[in-house]
Amino acid sequence: TQDKIILSIETSCDETACSIIKNGKEILSNVVVSQIESHKRFGGVVPEVASRHHVETITLVIDQALSEAGMTPRELSAVAVTEGPGLIGALLVGINAAKAFSFAHDLPLIPVHHIAGHIYANQLEEELEFPLVALIVSGGHTELIYMKDHLSFEVIGETRDDAVGEAYDKVARVIGLPYPGGPHVDRLSAEGEDTFAFPRPYLEPGSYDFSFSGLKSAVINTIHNYKQKGQEVKQEDVARSFQESVVDVLTKKTMDAVQQYEVNHLLVAGGVAANRGLRQSFESSCEKKGLKLSIPQLKFCTDNAAMIGAAAYHLYQKEHFASLDLNGRNFIDI
Ligand code: KG4
Ligand code: ZN
Repeated sequence: TQDKIILSIETSCDETACSIIKNGKEILSNVVVSQIESHKRFGGVVPEVASRHHVETITLVIDQALSEAGMTPRELSAVAVTEGPGLIGALLVGINAAKAFSFAHDLPLIPVHHIAGHIYANQLEEELEFPLVALIVSGGHTELIYMKDHLSFEVIGETRDDAVGEAYDKVARVIGLPYPGGPHVDRLSAEGEDTFAFPRPYLEPGSYDFSFSGLKSAVINTIHNYKQKGQEVKQEDVARSFQESVVDVLTKKTMDAVQQYEVNHLLVAGGVAANRGLRQSFESSCEKKGLKLSIPQLKFCTDNAAMIGAAAYHLYQKEHFASLDLNGRNFIDI
């Protein structure tokens, strides 16, 4: 048949994931094993612990993805894998599993950029309409990307320091919330008010870059000052004030880019796209402008392999295949 059925693997951080995707959008199976419980007590992802969990889990996850799809390897068209960026030891587990699978079953091997995966998560639910702008917000990334066509990625803005999710997790830690703190801060902020007027880091005019470390420090300093004076700080107000600042900056920069690049479609993806304040803000801004907005379901916002399979479909069309010397890469241009 003409159908392209791709088995895809993702192990760039703390989820071991394998999915089988037909023609870039139809999900035949999608298995995600999270390691979060193991990392919680350290307050963040420990790379060596992550690698070891991936080693333990990867073959089970691949077998499960095949059995849930009711498939044998002979029915597949290719195997795809996240090549980076990510934790190098973690990436290598997925890459080596994909290489072995490719070699054993004589399948083409497709390397996929992790951020391309986050963008193409949207394709699991609807067609991408070009030109478009994509905002990727996760624990490791904050990027604004312009795409004039499939697989054409122009990074027009990125963070100069902390990723948004990282800032969320650090603020959560000072407030005393468990890791990963983003969802907790989000929940708490719904009960608070924006009383602190934290800075909105817009940087120099015309720049689409982001910076969140100053904002994070402002929050931490405020909490310390209150503590020193022996005063109670209302956590929900800190959460709300921080979130308002983040949402304001992300929305303003993204909507400016949408206007300057004259696009009709805005994509938002990555773990922080689960944020309720951010979703509401984009929904209302896009509605005002008559702009098409896509934000994946929560399970496709956070790391998964289905998104890797969605991106891999287009790479397959272009015969963008890797040989068995494929290596993991920590920093790569998209
Ligand atoms: O995409 P992801 O699962 O992993 C990375 O590639 O980093 O993103 C995880 C990040 C964490 O920092 C987490 O705190 C954040 O996304 N996050 C949120 C929310 N849900 C997850 N941040 C703010 N609000 C949320 N609702
Ligand atoms: Zn990610």
